[in-house]
Amino acid sequence: MNDVKIAPSLLSADFARLPEQVKEALDGGADWLHLDVMDGHYVPNLTFGPILIKGVRKLTDKTLDAHLMISNADDYLEAFVKAGADILTVHVEACPHLWRTCENIKKLGAKVGVTLNPATPIQHLDPVLELADLVLVMSVEPGFGGQSFISSSTRKIQYLKEQKLKHGYSYLIQVDGGIDAKTAPIVVNAGAEVLVAGSSIFGKENVAQAIAAIRMAIQPEA
Ligand code: DX5
Ligand code: ZN
Repeated sequence: MNDVKIAPSLLSADFARLPEQVKEALDGGADWLHLDVMDGHYVPNLTFGPILIKGVRKLTDKTLDAHLMISNADDYLEAFVKAGADILTVHVEACPHLWRTCENIKKLGAKVGVTLNPATPIQHLDPVLELADLVLVMSVEPGFGGQSFISSSTRKIQYLKEQKLKHGYSYLIQVDGGIDAKTAPIVVNAGAEVLVAGSSIFGKENVAQAIAAIRMAIQPEA
């Protein structure tokens, strides 16, 4: 048993029965819940804001990981922390003063996550790696669930693992997009420690079975 965490993304959940879907994921062994916040501006899709996270917070004490795909993240950090998010992950492309944004997240008492689009070089995150609790490698273009895994993302994961070892950084390496029982072992071998999965979990009839299938796929050989 390795200690890779699975963070189902509620983006693919059935919102008409959200509490039930959250319970299915948690009972099925989800370690975190991943919440995709989209503003229709930074990404071409709209989802939800702090109000929904506040509701989900009432359903669980597990880590709530908010992936902020919004243009003006700085204006909303406090609202997301007040809503109960434990980790706020911001995009380097959307935060011109990323160091300050990271510091502000820390000051608000939340954990700092940083991320980047598939076409953004990983080195763009170098200056803030020392501040990060979580570094998220997007393995699809942000905005939608159900897209295919971009295989070059594994190089970014390997780079983050190398930097972590070399400098003694403490961040967890997370990957998001196209993760299922086939791609999970590839990213775990590269160094991923937290797997986000939406459609391969909530797109399935049996959420617990779907989580178990991913878990099984990443078991180290006996
Ligand atoms: C996409 C989101 C993902 C999404 C992943 O912008 O960041 O979290 O839910 O969906 P799948 O797992 O279906 O690729
Ligand atoms: Zn996400």
